[in-house]
Amino acid sequence: MKAVVLCAGLGTRLRPLTFSTAKHLIPVANKPVLFYGIESLVEVGAREIGIVVSRESRPVIQNAVDDGSRWGAVVTYIEQHHPRGLAHACACAEEFVGGEPFIMYLGDNLLPDGLRAPVELFRSTGANAVVLLKEVDDPSRFGIAEIEGNRIVRLVEKPKEPRSNLAIVGGYIFDRNIFDSIRRISPSWRGEYEITDAIQDLVDRGFTVLPYVVPGWWKDTGKPEDILDANRVVLDGMRSAIEGTVDEASELQGTVIVSAGAEVVHCRIQGPVMIGRDARIFGATLGPYVSLGDRVHVRNSRLTNCVVMEDTTIDYIELPLRDSLIGRRVVLRGQAQEPGMRLLLGDYCEVELREK
Ligand code: G1P
Repeated sequence: MKAVVLCAGLGTRLRPLTFSTAKHLIPVANKPVLFYGIESLVEVGAREIGIVVSRESRPVIQNAVDDGSRWGAVVTYIEQHHPRGLAHACACAEEFVGGEPFIMYLGDNLLPDGLRAPVELFRSTGANAVVLLKEVDDPSRFGIAEIEGNRIVRLVEKPKEPRSNLAIVGGYIFDRNIFDSIRRISPSWRGEYEITDAIQDLVDRGFTVLPYVVPGWWKDTGKPEDILDANRVVLDGMRSAIEGTVDEASELQGTVIVSAGAEVVHCRIQGPVMIGRDARIFGATLGPYVSLGDRVHVRNSRLTNCVVMEDTTIDYIELPLRDSLIGRRVVLRGQAQEPGMRLLLGDYCEVELREK
């Protein structure tokens, strides 16, 4: 089975980070969100992967994923020239798919349960489509499905008055009939060709559309809080591993991962915390829930619930930096004695805090 991964979205809700990268490449526990998706596809044998990119996302996605050989996959890049919605993005991959059933996966979604069970459901039932769903508290933010018996009977994109709490979670398995349905739909109120409407068309034409409700957690990482939430959940599932060096003056508690080449000196770390390769951490108080990317330098600073990307320097931020998402190659330094800060900083920012 082939896979189509959608990575053309602009990620406006993650600006300014997404001015210089794609939202699909924001790291969760030091691994780009998209890589989790590629891993689950390869796990179910979907090694031929078409990644739908925009002109903007193409260079960064291609640079990060390359030809896919690192996962034993073969990646083809498919350009969506205009952002006309998920159904339009899917249609761009019609030729790549070549008439066979395929998995469609939204590249900014995290589904740690993987795809084995829904793929098995699709195969064993001979359904025309399987749609992955999850109960949510805020259904009007998502595409929603209504179920009768064992089938999906109605789907609505971001309903004002949702009649179900089952959100569509960014994983779909389709046969070729979806492409006819995409040709039959019109743009929605937000001007997009919605995959949700195309699936409704499958239902209306009498095709079998089955739900698969994901048992574990799921995250659409569209907003900074979602990245921090996902980072917490993924870190919670990890085990301690010290490959770098930690001096005797440092105190480590809970799950702490110190990657190869990293150096931790005179720090107090309350896990879960993950420190990337070749990072230098001196006199810092970290955690819980902090991921520091490769080559990050932190000196005499306190961080709680933060994701800090590669090559960033944080110096003398002594009152805690909390709930923050910090891009690559940022320089953040100061001696300010203000209460804790919450920051969202894009790549290459420089921030200096001073006492007056
Ligand atoms: C898209 C889909 C929606 C789905 C969501 C999952 O929404 O249109 O049906 O529930 O992804 O992440 P969007 O992220 O475009 O708002």
